[in-house]
Parts: sequence; C-alpha cells; structure tokens
Amino acid sequence: MARKGGDPLKDIRSTRGKELDGRKVVLCVTGSVASIEVPALARELMRHGADVSVVMSESAEKLVRPETLEWATGNPVVRKLTGKTEHVRLAGEWEGRADLVLVAPCTANTLSKMALGIDDTPVTTLASMALGGGIPLVVCPAAHEPMYRNPAVAANLERLKERGVEFVGPRFEEGKAKMATVEEIVDASMRRLAAQDFRGKKVVVTGGPTVEFIDPVRVITNLSSGKMGVALAKGAWMRGAEVSYVHGGGLEPPPYIRSRKVLTTAEMRATVLEELKRGCDLFIMAAAPADFAPESKAPGKIRTSEGTLSLKLKPTSKIIDEVRTKWPELYMVAFKAETAPSRGALAEAAKRFLKESGANMVVANDVSSGKGFGTDTNSVLIIQRGRSREIAKRPKDEIAKTVLDDVGKALKLRKA
Ligand SMILES: Cc1cc2nc3c(=O)[nH]c(=O)nc-3n(C[C@H](O)[C@H](O)[C@H](O)COP(=O)(O)O)c2cc1C
Repeated sequence: MARKGGDPLKDIRSTRGKELDGRKVVLCVTGSVASIEVPALARELMRHGADVSVVMSESAEKLVRPETLEWATGNPVVRKLTGKTEHVRLAGEWEGRADLVLVAPCTANTLSKMALGIDDTPVTTLASMALGGGIPLVVCPAAHEPMYRNPAVAANLERLKERGVEFVGPRFEEGKAKMATVEEIVDASMRRLAAQDFRGKKVVVTGGPTVEFIDPVRVITNLSSGKMGVALAKGAWMRGAEVSYVHGGGLEPPPYIRSRKVLTTAEMRATVLEELKRGCDLFIMAAAPADFAPESKAPGKIRTSEGTLSLKLKPTSKIIDEVRTKWPELYMVAFKAETAPSRGALAEAAKRFLKESGANMVVANDVSSGKGFGTDTNSVLIIQRGRSREIAKRPKDEIAKTVLDDVGKALKLRKA
C-alpha cells in the first residue's frame, strides 16, 4: 500500500530512538577509505532522529559517491562552496544552524588543517565555522598508524582537544588507526547533545547473571541477559556520568564504558566493593547474581556413571546488605525480579524489599513465564518511599531513561 506524505528517503527517522529528534547534524566526510562506512553512519543517526546533511572534500569523492550520500540522508550534498554560501546556511549564526558538526572519517590532513585554522575545502570551512561559532565539533580520525603517529598530527590533535573538540576513536587494529565503529560514533553524538545532568557523578552499575560451580565445568546460573544493566550504564554515560559496569556475563557493554567481568557472586561482591571504594554517588544493582550456591564444589568432574546427583544449596551473601552497612548514605537502586501472581502482590513484595534492603528505589518486575529475562522490553514498577509508579511494556533503554530521570529528581540533579 502506498504511504502518504513524508520523504521516502527519510522514513527511517526516529525508528530506533528519539534522542536526536529535531537535531541537525552536519556530517563532514574526508578522503579516507573509512568513508565507505558513512552511509551506514548517516542512516543510524537518522534512526535516532537526526536530520543529516553531508559536506565532503574532493578526496572523499574518489572513495564514496555523492549520490550515495544524498540517497542516505535525503538531503543535498555540499561538494563545493558556491555563491549560496552553503557553510553559512549550515553553520552560520542563525536559528536553523547545525547542532553538531561531525567529521567522520577525518584524515590526518584535515585534522591538521583544522588545528591551524586553514580552510581550503568545504569540510575545513565547516570546521572553521563550528570552532569559531561555538557549535560542538566531534572528530573521528582514521589513517594508517604511522600517519596518525606523525608528531605534527599528534600535536595538532592535542591543540584541538584543548579547544574543546571531542575525539571518538580511533581503534588500533592491523597497523591502522581505524575509524571508531558506527555505534560508538552515534553514541558519542547523542552524549554530546544530551542534557548532562549526571556530569561529574560516579555511577556503579551491575548487570547480567553470575554462576556458582557444581564441579570444575558445571554451573548453576539464571537467564539474565544483562540488557537492562547495559541500558542503565549507557544511559548514565550519555548523561555525563563516570560509569563503572560490573557484570557476570550477558551482553558486553560498549568499549567506552569502563567494565569489569566476574564469574561468581562472591567475585561480584568483591569487585563491587572495590569499585565503590573509588568513590560513588549512585549504585544501581540490575544484576541477577546467583543467590544459591552448592554447599561444596566437587574437586573433579562428576561422572554420570555415578547416577542421580543430589545437590545441597546454600544462599550466597547479599551484596546490597553489605553495601548499605558500609555506605549508609549512598543512593541505591535495586532491581527485584519476582514471580508475582498479581500487580498487587508485586507491589507488596517490592515495598517489603525497599524496607528490608535499605535501597532508595526498587524497580520490580514480574519474571513469571520468562517475562523480562533476556527480552528487549519489560514492564516495571518503580517504588520509592511513599510513591510508586507503573511503567507499561517498553524497550529497556526507555526504562533505563525513566529510572535515571527519577533518580535525577531524587538527587536534585540539574540539567546542563
Ligand atoms: C584509497 C585512499 C585511502 C586513503 N585513506 C586515508 C586515510 O584513511 N586517512 C588519511 O589520513 N588519509 C588517507 N588517504 C590520503 C588522503 O586522501 C589525502 O591526504 C588527501 O589529501 C586528504 O584530503 P582531505 O583531507 O581534504 O579529504 C587516502 C588516500 C587514498 C587514495
């Protein structure tokens, strides 16, 4: 069936998130082979709501077609500056100007020119407008490693950093300083434009399952995927927090988030205590640590020829109890998975847990028949002293946003 209205080239906008809704991103492309990633990058920015316009250097045109980038963004591509003063239209001091100038990929050549105030290509002119006009400038270098290590380039990079330019990547692989991944660049762009209400705050998040050994190769565990933990860690990072993510398996966090991986509940406990000792303003427990462990671990692999096996289980230590005793003032959010027959029963269990654990906020969800565990969505009940609210089924990153909004209000954080 024919779809009405809109622009068929832009129909993917905001399909993955609204973080960049109403934001204009000027995507500057230079002559690196990494420019073949630009269509994917532009499309992903659009999926998060951005309106993307491409500006490219002549060298970039040898590697990626302007037509491809026009298709990818649905906007005209600036290949040279004309009497229309495209640089002023995109980044001059008027209301409709760019919210962000993103140079991806950025050659060693363009990086150095930007630092020296040279503008002799459409890209360097846009960078010049951003640097002089206070538009956030994010740069994603890509080059062969020796080019990137050129002391002149390294010094120019430092100069740009001193002027508030943000660098994403590169990743060092196969002798190359490769452009950061699309996910990393999109996340950094969203962070740059997000309200920074958690700036300067130290946040420790736990996520994923832990395991308890039956013998050297067999374990008891649970079906936690770590998706909620990663969504919370990413969400706090986007809002400016310094995040430390402690996880026992499950989804890996993105590389820019400091993370520590553990196996058992005892390891998670020890690692959490170490992280908290480094300083912490907010502790979020979204992990599902195994709360029962075999009384003893068999020293060798148990043979099936031994027949039926009975296991005696003992409860593992409660991390939250120890943290509350050691840090009585710390703001703590605890996730609580329950198999509750009704909404009322879930609320009752969550309120009891809030009281017993000393957490400041409990996020409870019903996990009967697999709900919540391993899925991309969840529905939760957020309980604080004297208040509760229900969040109907939605993606875990939206639940993370709501939880962080509520924590921000409770801690009286201000949006910068
Ligand atoms: C196939 C090819 C790939 C290149 N890749 C890179 C690269 O990844 N990084 C880089 O700094 N220069 C790279 N160069 C060299 C730049 O294109 C060259 O320095 C050019 O002058 C850059 O111009 P621009 O910065 O205006 O785009 C490459 C050149 C070619 C022909």
